Amino acid sequence: MYGIVTKAIGDLVVTNHGVAQWEAIQEKAGVEADFLVGNEPYPDDLAYRLVGAAAEVLGCDVDAFLIRFGEHWVLKTGMESYGALLKSGGVSLADFLVKLPNFHTRVSLLYPQLTPPEFSCTDIGAHSMRLHYFTQRPGLTSFMIGLLRGLSTLYETPVRITLVAQKAKGDDHDIFEIDWGAPKE
Ligand code: HEM
Repeated sequence: MYGIVTKAIGDLVVTNHGVAQWEAIQEKAGVEADFLVGNEPYPDDLAYRLVGAAAEVLGCDVDAFLIRFGEHWVLKTGMESYGALLKSGGVSLADFLVKLPNFHTRVSLLYPQLTPPEFSCTDIGAHSMRLHYFTQRPGLTSFMIGLLRGLSTLYETPVRITLVAQKAKGDDHDIFEIDWGAPKE
């Protein structure tokens, strides 16, 4: 994954927990993340090791950290560094989600060696839809949940997110049922 991913993990940790914790995480992971370059691609293993070490050092589970990271990615990294790209993604949460299958095509213009996730939308109703998430990478379901929560905050649209199929449990891919007509959990 591109260095911007590991940089954003560092930003989340430093902003909320301080530099000392971030240094402890880099040491535990055996990754000198501060030396990675944002627009260079690196093996995925580096990001996974940092996430695992962050959960250990901060005393939370990996999924909880990935949810926080997803929210941070949209609300901080996305808004601060890719504001125009993010805002052009849709005029409402529903619009953004329907257009999400094409979103990383535009990201690829900035990062040509991107290995992006893929999405499709089905069962699109007035207040809900199903978002299908396809990836070659394991263990990122909670990151997706955090990203969706971040988008919900960004568009000031409360959502209920239900995982109705899970690749980790043998399904073909993850499917999120997203309902924006109901009060937020
Ligand atoms: C500011 C906007 C965004 C940018 C610049 C961006 C960029 C990226 C980059 C660079 C990666 C790493 C992939 C690689 O390096 O090969 C990535 C991965 C990913 N992105 Fe985005 N992204 C953005 C928004 C979103 C949104 C809104 C979603 C979904 C709601 C999303 C879902 C994901 C997921 C799930 C991955 C993990 C990779 C995988 O599943 O295989 N991204 N993105």
